[in-house]
Amino acid sequence: MTVRIELRRDAGKVDPSRDLWIRRRQVARVLGPPDPTAIAELVDHRAKVLGFGLYSPDSGIVLRLLCGGQQPPPPDWLERGLAAALAGRAALGLGAETTGFREVNSEGDGLPGLVVDRFGDWRVVQITTAPIAARRPEICAWLAEHAPLAGGQIVVMGEAAAELEGFAPGLEVHARDGTDRGPAQLEWLEHGRPFVAPAPPAQKTGAYHDQRDNRSRFAALVAARGAREAPPRVLDLGCHVGGFSIAAARRGATVVAVDQSARALEFAARNAAANAVSAQVETVAADMFGDLAAPALAGPFDAVIFDPPKVARSRRDLGRALEALTRTLSRLLPRVADDGLVALCSCSHHLGWDELDRAVLDACGRAVRTAGPGRVVRLDRWGAGPDHPISPGHREGEYLRVAVYQRRQT
Ligand SMILES: C[S@@+](CC[C@H](N)C(=O)[O-])C[C@H]1O[C@@H](n2cnc3c(N)ncnc32)[C@H](O)[C@@H]1O
Repeated sequence: MTVRIELRRDAGKVDPSRDLWIRRRQVARVLGPPDPTAIAELVDHRAKVLGFGLYSPDSGIVLRLLCGGQQPPPPDWLERGLAAALAGRAALGLGAETTGFREVNSEGDGLPGLVVDRFGDWRVVQITTAPIAARRPEICAWLAEHAPLAGGQIVVMGEAAAELEGFAPGLEVHARDGTDRGPAQLEWLEHGRPFVAPAPPAQKTGAYHDQRDNRSRFAALVAARGAREAPPRVLDLGCHVGGFSIAAARRGATVVAVDQSARALEFAARNAAANAVSAQVETVAADMFGDLAAPALAGPFDAVIFDPPKVARSRRDLGRALEALTRTLSRLLPRVADDGLVALCSCSHHLGWDELDRAVLDACGRAVRTAGPGRVVRLDRWGAGPDHPISPGHREGEYLRVAVYQRRQT
């Protein structure tokens, strides 16, 4: 049976090359069974075929397009997509120095709902939609056959996505030795720096490869400040397992690494030791949205990286998210040295570049009361690395933004 999804007359203009998600409120009716294995046909209110995609019968996002036009995708679209994604990563030439990277990036690789991250000898397959959950056996079998790893594969089907999409949550381990024994921890190299992180269940797939190149960029900016008499001082707020901290410390900085997760901090300390920078990295448990009153956070800092969790899950959260960012930034700015840097990160696609600028400007306005006159200028903007391809125009896929500012006295 085929599934046909018919748009409402007032669904708004749908450009299948950019508008990859069709929401329930745009849909007049669905013809066909509630079958997440179906390739659904999308038609407008005049029955003109617009494209084909993956059907999520129970989700607010009913359809995620695979292709526009009159022709359905070929029967082996999934295998072709996986092969193209892996070939794309091989072509990046990341080399032996980087064994932690994203192998499949959902819509960016034409495989909506599927994320695959590599951690050395293991890969973590993260499933976030019902149609991908329904195809889990084929995906795992293809990867195991065509890209086998010495360790194996861990499949993560998180509870939040499972509830939204209506599939069963769970965690599966498919070890190469045929057992379901997973690794004690994830291990990988990032630009030659060794890292470990907790194995799933953990944050996301285990670690944040999207910031890999930004960590090196940030460390280079910090190191450029090292010509001064003392080593540059860095505050890494939301450090997770210490990626930014260790990159900066390896280039001479002393770092205060903050997270509210004791487990993340334990791994950050282990990573500092493995990178021979323990003496330069102090870990502190604190709430980044709290008063930040711990003495170690007093500053002054030459550079601050502020990398919060996803603060705006929907547009409705935007006002609250901006206020939370602004409040923390207004506490941070007085602790930033003259000409010091603030790298503000967001992994919420609802928070655009303009919103990040607004948070910093508003924080600057508030901080004037405590820190005297001053202003910020923006030096740079960074996104995710090339192992996180984005389908142009797919706004939801463009989630990572890092805006780098400098505090100026005049
Ligand atoms: C996006 S991740 C940061 C990734 C990290 N900077 C990196 O490069 O790998 C957000 C981090 O913030 C931490 N976190 C979440 N809420 C927090 C809070 N209220 N206070 C402090 N840390 C928090 C999480 O444990 C997580 O490690």
